Amino acid sequence: MSNVYNVAVVVGSLRKASINRKVALALAELAPANLKLEIVEIGDLPLYNEDIDGDSPPAAYSTFRQKVGSSDAVLFVTPEYNRSVPAPLKNAIDVGSRPYGKAVWSGKPGAVISVSPGAIGGFGANQHLRQSFVFLNVPCMQQPEAYLGGAGSAFDEAGKLSESVKPFLQSFINAYGQFVEQHKK
Ligand SMILES: Cc1cc2nc3c(=O)[nH]c(=O)nc-3n(C[C@H](O)[C@H](O)[C@H](O)COP(=O)(O)O)c2cc1C
Repeated sequence: MSNVYNVAVVVGSLRKASINRKVALALAELAPANLKLEIVEIGDLPLYNEDIDGDSPPAAYSTFRQKVGSSDAVLFVTPEYNRSVPAPLKNAIDVGSRPYGKAVWSGKPGAVISVSPGAIGGFGANQHLRQSFVFLNVPCMQQPEAYLGGAGSAFDEAGKLSESVKPFLQSFINAYGQFVEQHKK
């Protein structure tokens, strides 16, 4: 039997009606048989502050570190804020990066898809995130790059994924399934 890898999915938007969250859930449904996607929530993480970390960190930090740390792979689905990574997502990355030398991200095969109603699909956030991956030792899928622009029409009012967007998400998550498999060999 082939392996099934648990993928921690981090969504960069906290909005209830987030398009990014809808994309993350759609990817979970489209995922190939070797991937099991689960969103790890970031909305209750206190802003990272070394003064409150250490021997007895906030429970939210510990829970987050445990969930990401016990996963096999990490997938980021994010909007772009002011041409960069939204603050809650950057905060989650920072929380997971400490204690120093014990980053939960290290070595986990990663991928990023940025999603925006705008035309350039969150390119800035996507690229800035990749910059952090280098330091955090996250081997990141290079191709296909995934910038979903014009995403305001990706779902209809009932929340159904547009048939024109589906093949794009399907090819992205299929490629990620292969990428994770290669890294876990
Ligand atoms: C503070 C803020 C900054 C934003 N900056 C950008 C931006 O730089 N580029 C962009 O494409 N969209 C930008 N947007 C619009 C978001 O792409 C849009 O709100 C999107 O729907 C957010 O994703 P969500 O639906 O998953 O919450 C910004 C939105 C906010 C609230």
